[in-house]
Amino acid sequence: MTDDHEHGHPEDPPTWSELTISSWVLNDRVQKLHASIESNWDPLQRSACQTAAGRALWRHVTNDVLAELLAGETYLRSFYEKIRKDRLNHAREISGVILAVRTLWFDSKLETAVGLLNNEALQIVLLGAGMDTRAYRLNCLTGSHVFEVDFPQVLQMKASLLQEAMKSMDNQQKIAVKAKALISVEADIRGKDWLEKLQYSGFIPEKNTVWILEGLLYYLSDADAIQVLKTIAAHCSLTPTVLLADFMNKPSITLSNPNFQFYSDWPDQLLPSLGFSDVKLSQIGDPDAHFGLLHDPSNMFDKLRSIPRSVEVDPDDGTPCCRLYLVQASGSPSKNTCISP
Ligand SMILES: C[S@@+](CC[C@H](N)C(=O)[O-])C[C@H]1O[C@@H](n2cnc3c(N)ncnc32)[C@H](O)[C@@H]1O
Repeated sequence: MTDDHEHGHPEDPPTWSELTISSWVLNDRVQKLHASIESNWDPLQRSACQTAAGRALWRHVTNDVLAELLAGETYLRSFYEKIRKDRLNHAREISGVILAVRTLWFDSKLETAVGLLNNEALQIVLLGAGMDTRAYRLNCLTGSHVFEVDFPQVLQMKASLLQEAMKSMDNQQKIAVKAKALISVEADIRGKDWLEKLQYSGFIPEKNTVWILEGLLYYLSDADAIQVLKTIAAHCSLTPTVLLADFMNKPSITLSNPNFQFYSDWPDQLLPSLGFSDVKLSQIGDPDAHFGLLHDPSNMFDKLRSIPRSVEVDPDDGTPCCRLYLVQASGSPSKNTCISP
């Protein structure tokens, strides 16, 4: 990774010829904080750093300059190793491309939603925010209150890493919050009190809200995932609401990671049944989920899109059809389609 990427454009070809890690990541105090993540966090919490590492290594696309600091050296090195192997093996897809597309899809849908719902006090709630940096990254959030909800350890560590980096004058501009307000809400969303904690932190149920559930739902049990979605759906009857979320299908859950639980093969049917309307589903490679990043003409995403969604195994080669669905849904009191949790 070179500094050129910081000023790069999505169409710039990535040059992952070597990994260089910035001095703010190699700083002793930052290294100590990351060492405590290694010793004390469980795999669920550590997924926040893994995701940040992917976004850091695809920074030429994601523009996420803070991701490197939040990911830490260990995760940067191990993700980089995957990318290096993919390139050596001339893989059709380079590790992290899904993450890069997913990040850009959420960014672009969030920007559109902010434009549509815009009012003085738009609220953005990031459930399972992890090392998300949208509050620092996106100019469209200057009028919005951003609530980051995650486990206490994750949010406290994120704050400590950012504070440590702030001590250097050079970093202060990178760490300036763009959102009108950024509020941390320490909560376990499997519990019954997370909404109460959100409200206690200043969230107002009657104000227009965009909910972002990125890289989260599949870590929850079926019951917890449905309960969270129902809780959000209940807000549609109070105020215009937009939900942006990604869903894995069954083969993705089964194959990839023992921590994955919840899946939905048909989120476009599930969400209306919970009370959302205007559900739009995209797959990686669709015109709104491509971003010029799928270069190989025989890339697996185009192949998957050519196979009906009801098919679980590729009839040509017997490989499971692992899909990630990017879904936007909305609701408003006038549509009167939402039900209570
Ligand atoms: C894969 S990371 C994704 C983080 C972030 N949304 C992103 O895309 O960078 C999943 C995040 O969800 C959080 N998370 C998972 N289960 C949670 C729960 N029950 N309550 C609060 N946060 C949770 C984890 O701590 C982690 O930060």
